[in-house]
Amino acid sequence: MEKILVIGAAGQLGSELTKSLSDMYGGESVIATDLNESAKSKFDYCQFKALDIMDQDTARNLIKNENVTQIYHLAAVLSAVGEKKPLFAWDLNMQSLLFVLEIAREFKLNKVYWPSSIAVFGPNTPKVNTPQYCVKEPNTVYGISKQAGERWCEYYFQKYNVDVRSLRYPGLIGYKSLPGGGTTDYAVDIYHKALAGEKFDCFLREDSFLPMMYMPDAIKATLDLMHAPSESVKIRSSYNLASMSFSPKEIYQSILKHHPDFKIEYHPDFRQSIADSWPDSVDDSCAQKDWGWQPDFDLDKMTEDILTNLPNFSF
Ligand code: NAD
Ligand code: SER
Repeated sequence: MEKILVIGAAGQLGSELTKSLSDMYGGESVIATDLNESAKSKFDYCQFKALDIMDQDTARNLIKNENVTQIYHLAAVLSAVGEKKPLFAWDLNMQSLLFVLEIAREFKLNKVYWPSSIAVFGPNTPKVNTPQYCVKEPNTVYGISKQAGERWCEYYFQKYNVDVRSLRYPGLIGYKSLPGGGTTDYAVDIYHKALAGEKFDCFLREDSFLPMMYMPDAIKATLDLMHAPSESVKIRSSYNLASMSFSPKEIYQSILKHHPDFKIEYHPDFRQSIADSWPDSVDDSCAQKDWGWQPDFDLDKMTEDILTNLPNFSF
């Protein structure tokens, strides 16, 4: 029987992925963990334990005592917060991953999942249809930590046979939790403002294209990758993953179809230069070929789904 530990489970991705894992494996097989006890209320369907992943003795004991067989390691400092606290971001993002990889080697865990990001790319990367393999010179601490993390994942797979799997997520858009300090957060916040009948103040330019993905597609991709036969997972650094690419103006126009009075203003801040260093769109043909990746949502379908369901959702 699998015992799955989710680290950073209360965040934007974890809140939805942990539920899907519990639906799939049963709540008794999933242990959600996050920094504060206050997150417990989100997890009435599985076990919850407060855990700071930097407290490695406690984490080690938990993994040992609970006979954990798989880890989904989601805790990280994201791009915008990382630029405010660079050394803290590097410390958390790298130390926690190295701890998880080392534990997986030592305890011979069945599988590890660790997300990477489009932030591994940089200003010298081809911007359109960015290939899986190309120049990567990230200029954010977050991007540097994800790039280094990818190298460590591949290293642990090649040297120690740790079955670690990873996706370079685009900006993730979900309505079931608020985002945690990234450059793509505007594409979540904009729906909340539209539904509240308020003007949206966008921190990126209207023509700033970025790769994006609706959360149900991100969950599907993660579980598809994690359930693919090991021999199909040919890339052990991290897979490019794509579904849609749009600018603030395009998401605004998509919302206007439902809320014709909605207003937007553009006031780019420091996050604009982060967005400018990332691709407009990525080529995910390796994910399509190796484990059959296909997204379900485009921009208009996502907008309709969020505007329909967000008003009935309670945080
Ligand atoms: P988030 O900030 O919403 O959630 C991260 C969670 O980790 C939070 O609940 C936080 O409390 C927890 N955490 C922080 N420090 C911790 C610590 N020391 N110990 C335990 N838990 C801690 O982030 P997210 O959007 O859910 O992202 C999850 C992962 O996916 C991250 O690795 C991120 O880099 C990656 N990712 C996210 C996006 C996106 O658009 N959201 C895109 C690409 C990659
Ligand atoms: N969406 C994330 C961010 O903006 C990218 O990984 O930080």
